Parts: sequence; structure tokens; C-alpha cells
Amino acid sequence: MDLYTLNIENWKARYSSLIESNTLPMLCVGADETQVSLCWHAPKETASAQVELSVNEDMTDSRLFEGRVTEAENDFQSVCRVNITGLKENTVYYYRWNTGNGWSNAEKYETKSFTSHKALVIGDIQIIQIEDGDNSAQISESNYWNNILENALANNPDIACLLSPGDNTNTGKTAEEWQSFLMPPSLRSLPQALAIGNHDKKGTTYRYYTNMPNEFYGKGFFGLDRDFWFRYGDVLYLVFDSTSGSAPDHIAMAKEAVGKNRDAKWRIGLIHHGIYGAGDCIGDKETEILLNAIFTPIFESFDLDLVITGHTHSQGRSHFMKKRKIVGRAESGKTYTDPEGIVYINANSVCGKVVMDYEADYLAYAFMENDVTTYTTLEYKGNQLILETRRGDSGALLDSITLERTKAHNENSAANKLRRVAYNPIKFAGWAYNKITKLLTK
Ligand SMILES: [Fe+2]
Repeated sequence: MDLYTLNIENWKARYSSLIESNTLPMLCVGADETQVSLCWHAPKETASAQVELSVNEDMTDSRLFEGRVTEAENDFQSVCRVNITGLKENTVYYYRWNTGNGWSNAEKYETKSFTSHKALVIGDIQIIQIEDGDNSAQISESNYWNNILENALANNPDIACLLSPGDNTNTGKTAEEWQSFLMPPSLRSLPQALAIGNHDKKGTTYRYYTNMPNEFYGKGFFGLDRDFWFRYGDVLYLVFDSTSGSAPDHIAMAKEAVGKNRDAKWRIGLIHHGIYGAGDCIGDKETEILLNAIFTPIFESFDLDLVITGHTHSQGRSHFMKKRKIVGRAESGKTYTDPEGIVYINANSVCGKVVMDYEADYLAYAFMENDVTTYTTLEYKGNQLILETRRGDSGALLDSITLERTKAHNENSAANKLRRVAYNPIKFAGWAYNKITKLLTK
């Protein structure tokens, strides 16, 4: 594969050749490590949701997977979605999809180990829209996004998936934001899990460009609202839509996900807003009260190990937090076995967006970095989860911490059960808040 890293001229040529067709596919995480899915736009008259998968580059002996075709956000295309199942670990596959004008070129996708893996966290990718015909910012931002990805993957070839805590697009209203997002060639072989952010919620395009597993629509969610969960090896990922205050739905999703995955060694949360994210989440009444009231009891009573957030464009990692207090210090470079409390990682932004105001000495934070774009890797190895945050350009290590889990989760302890009973007023308040939001949105 060609590396486009730091080569803006190469990137401009790639951008120009791809931006108009609106047909780049998104490879999405599947319900578990043996699955991935594909989502793409094709001409309305000829769209057919078909993917072929083979272990041979010439696509001989391929398996055919068929999915569903649904309406697109425009008049001339449809959206194709196909789930691919039965993948084996550490295997090189090739796949191609029906573009509506024949088969695409074959793309290579290599599965990773199912027993240990790395996940990549990059936050607030937030590709900007074309403004008054000027695409220069979109070109430079997508180039920057590509370069960080290339650097992260070159240094970590064992990354199995990308976790984005949301704000994948800036307006959520234009196809070009998603096409620019999907331009990095490495994304053809990197399954993605994308939480929804407030910027994605400015429009509705997220609905047409993604295909997330186990989507949970709940009873009170509306519009783009949705949570989802997936399993990879020993890890359960719970992805919440923090732009929705519908507490009964969020806790119902956690109950379903945890209930079906009691054997998972790790439970990882992914949401957009930074509960302990330095920035305007601290001191902003609506954000702070809502997030802390709605999400921390869910995270804590279901015994999550780690929560990944974004939104404030400020990189940080917390100490061990419980009920909004530090219950244990988490120093960089150290290993902690069966710690009490949850570590929160707040990702910064890809394109050097404005860092929201924050109190530099905010006590939750063990580590902060705001001068360079960063990425974080989560490495699962045996009983250990190794978190490393690195510079997006050089890959230099900025922060690391190792969590070691030797005990089973205890979401059914008396204290946690009681906490969920005590959550009932929050469920009611969240339900009412959600109803009012829905009325005001109409
Ligand atoms: Fe945001």
C-alpha cells in the first residue's frame, strides 16, 4: 500500500479522484471478532448488497454474502449493507463489493489474534465541510487524519479495530465529510466503531454511512439516537450515545450487553462527552449534571473497567474515579491489579481544533496533553490491559498505564444492585427530559 503520509500533493490527487462519486465503503466492526460489515452507496437503479470474500487475491473460491439495500439521503443512490461472518483469526482475506457497476477491486483485510488484540482510539476526527466551494480545509484535514492513522498503524500493525468517541463529522450534513473521512486507504482493512457526537447530530448522515452491530434503539430514543455494543475476544465494548438523555434506554442497553457477555474479561465504555474530560464538561451545568447523573451510575454499577470519551479536544487520562471522587491514584508507567474505580481516557481532536477552556489543575487528571494530536492504543494481553497514548506525528510515548484484572466483575453485588434501584428516579427524570427534548426538536 502506498503511504500518503505528509504528502499533500499525493493526497490532493487522491481526494480529487474520490470526492465526487460518494461510493467509498466503510468497514465496520461486527457483533464479535469473527464478523465485520461493509456499508457503501451505489447507484439507485443497480444497487445490490453483495460482498465476496476469499483467501485468494484473485478472488477464486470466494464466499458470497448478501445484505440489504435501503434508501440513501440523496435521490440517485441507495445504501448497501452486508455482514460478513465466519472469519478466522490471523488470516489474510480479500473482499470486493458490488458497486452497482460491477465488482470493486479486491481489498485486503487481515484479521488479528482473537485472544489478544489492540484497539486504536482517535477522537473528534470531525472532518470539516466544504464551505462556499472552498475545499482546502477539507483536503488538509483529511490528509492530517490519514497521516495519523498511517503512523498509528505503522507502529502498531496488530491493531484490530478503531474506536472513535464521536464527532466523526463537523456538520453531519454532507456526503463529502464522510467521503473525506473514508479516504485513508488503511480504512479498507480497519474495522471501525463510531460513537455519535453532537456534531454528527447536527445532521442525519451518520444513519446512511455506518453499519454498527447490535444497534439498540430503545423505547425513548428518536432521530439518530442509538447505542450499540460488540464483543471482540475477551472484551465487551459498550457504545453509548451521550447526546441523548434517555436514561432508561442507556441502562437497558448496558443490561442487555452485560447480560449476554458475562464471560467477557473486560468491559469498556465509549461515549462522546467527557465526563471527566478537561474542558467545558467541567462547570457546564447541563453537561456535568446530566452526564454524571445518567452515565456514571451505569458505568459503575455494571463494573466497567475503562471509559473512553472525547468532545473537549483535550487529551487526558484520569486517576481511578468513583462517585466523582478519586479513589486511587493512577500514575503513568505503573501497573494496577484489580483497582477500585474506573479510569477515563479523554481523546483530543485530529485536526487541531480549538481546545475548550479548562482548569489545568482539575484534580481528576493524572495526565494531560493539548499541544499535539495524539492517539491511544488499548492492548489486551492475558490478564492485562495496557493503555498507551502517543504523539500522532512521531509516535513518541506520552503516557501509559497497565490494568490487571484477576477477579470476575461484580455487577450483581448488593451495593451495585442497590445503586440500580436508586437509579429509578434518574430513569424517570431522563425519560421526562427526553420527552421534552423530543417535543422541542419537532
Ligand atoms: Fe463534541
